[in-house]
Amino acid sequence: MFKDPDLMEDSNHCANPTLCELSEPTRRQWLTQALQWSALAWLPVSGCASLPGAGPGHPRLGFVGIAPSRADALAVPPGYSAQVLAAWGEPVGMALAMPAFREDASNSAADQALQLGMHHDGIQYFALDGSHHGLLVMNHEYTDDGLLHPGGMSPWTLEKVRKSQAAHGISVIEVRRHGQQWQMVRPSAYARRITANTPCTLRGPAAGHALLQTAADPQGHSVLGTLNNCACGKTPWGTYLSGEENFRFYFAGGARPNADQQRWGITPEAWFRWPEHDPRFDATLHPNEFHRFGWIVEVDPMDPGSVPVKRTALGRGAHEGAWVATTRTQRAVVYTGEDARFEYLYKFVSRDAIAPARSGLTLAQANHALLDHGTLYVARFGADGSGEWLALVHGQGPLTARHGFADQGEVLVKTRQASDLLGATKMDRPEWLAIDQDQHQVFCALTNNSARGQPGQPDVDAANPRRNNVMGQVIRWQEDGDFDSTRFEWNTLVLAGDPGGARAEARGKVRGDAFACPDGLMFDPRGVLWIQTDVGASDLNQGEFSRLGNNQMLACDPATGEVRRFLSGPVNCEVTGAALTPDGSTLFVNIQHPGEPPSERSDASDPQRFSRWPHGGRPRSATVAIRRDDGGTIGT
Ligand code: FEO
Ligand code: CA
Ligand code: CA
Ligand code: CA
Repeated sequence: MFKDPDLMEDSNHCANPTLCELSEPTRRQWLTQALQWSALAWLPVSGCASLPGAGPGHPRLGFVGIAPSRADALAVPPGYSAQVLAAWGEPVGMALAMPAFREDASNSAADQALQLGMHHDGIQYFALDGSHHGLLVMNHEYTDDGLLHPGGMSPWTLEKVRKSQAAHGISVIEVRRHGQQWQMVRPSAYARRITANTPCTLRGPAAGHALLQTAADPQGHSVLGTLNNCACGKTPWGTYLSGEENFRFYFAGGARPNADQQRWGITPEAWFRWPEHDPRFDATLHPNEFHRFGWIVEVDPMDPGSVPVKRTALGRGAHEGAWVATTRTQRAVVYTGEDARFEYLYKFVSRDAIAPARSGLTLAQANHALLDHGTLYVARFGADGSGEWLALVHGQGPLTARHGFADQGEVLVKTRQASDLLGATKMDRPEWLAIDQDQHQVFCALTNNSARGQPGQPDVDAANPRRNNVMGQVIRWQEDGDFDSTRFEWNTLVLAGDPGGARAEARGKVRGDAFACPDGLMFDPRGVLWIQTDVGASDLNQGEFSRLGNNQMLACDPATGEVRRFLSGPVNCEVTGAALTPDGSTLFVNIQHPGEPPSERSDASDPQRFSRWPHGGRPRSATVAIRRDDGGTIGT
């Protein structure tokens, strides 16, 4: 969200040196090196041979790539079909209360709390019965209040705030496939909405901290709701991890925000205008409520009565999402990043090993405290292709009371400030990560950063090698031995952009189909890296983006660097969130905000101005199910 440069977060003014300053290479050397890396097969990727098309002699990319498109339609390769399965406003299937979607947006806040939220983002599939029956768990990142209400935001009322809050959060739906067609199972005992008002528990070292205590929750253990849920991960113990990304847009900071609030990008007024009717989002009245968002939230979708948990041990940030690897000793390593200009990449290593299910407890229940104990690290990318994970541990290095950190809880609430002190590398907006468990490799989409190299801003470095970087890049690193290592080696997988572009630093180095602004990533069991894009509506199909088409999804073979376009979305949508069934025969993809105007808020008098996808009326974010017409494995 928020591609408008005036809205985009740019709060890191700390003095961390860029790598150029550390090692004094020329910028040109870095650019050249990155281009060389992107053109090379860096490390062999074996993939998994359990699915068709992964063995020797089978190229990983086995579909016919599609052309860029500007159509208000979803396009997939020949031999594939896409079905709209779950759009904003569909009842999720809780008990017998299933209010139908009203095309004029006149559903109430109470209706919306029983329906799929707006702006679908990360999604995961949890099998109930193999690859034809399971749960889909998805995030609803934010709302377009010009589209959500009849009359938009005029007048702006408490009922509209409550509807907006109900359209945020997470949905759990049950789905079943009959032949080639998927259907939502309704009613379903699993169906669930988690909104911006659903009680969540705080756990880990910062739970109960003075910085998390409020008048409504003097113990600092219970928060109402989760919001701006962006990307997601799935744990080996069967739970869902959701990132609370741009939480600053919900809070009003008033005329004189303090230094901590400024470091977290709070603004005088809240973009979402909730504080006008819900004072807990007025940070001048309730400053600690601001500290209770920005956490990774864990949900057990198999237990509809479970309380979502905010895991403070993983640190606070404008988290895109969280992705889990497993060490050889069965400890969990959770990778996260902050999607904001010049923010950082993190990983958390659990203290304990993943526990097996035991009598009376499911696997998820047996690991309920796993993410509450461990060590959080922040990344520093070396100029020579090496890298280092720096521990964010109270009492170590500068993380002491003398520098403003009373205890580990404060280190975690102020993860950004702690990382500033350690000299972490300022990145070009880390979006999704994806993990190759077998090769101990991690991929990260750095979506763009047009402020890079601008006057008064950090200059380029090895991992972020382009000034006015409007196109983005995908980097990867390999941990030294195992995922809990504190050292790694890294390089650039692909520099996004049009290879025929006029401006050198917007020019892509892409082998195959060009794209811009990588955001969503998924590493599939065959060793294919799937890339989804998020170019803002004010840039799509214009200027340096004029030949790249609508936002899209592509497949990349990391062993060769080849990229092939698989899907093109409708007008002004973002393509985000991808989940495969275990057999690889269905790919669920989320289409977010079709028809979003450049202002990122629809004109309530003409909400269909840019798109009528998917059903010819009011544009609606939706989950689509994509299958090969012959039922075969996606991508082969
Ligand atoms: Fe919500 Fe960074 O995308
Ligand atoms: Ca978006
Ligand atoms: Ca994203
Ligand atoms: Ca994005």
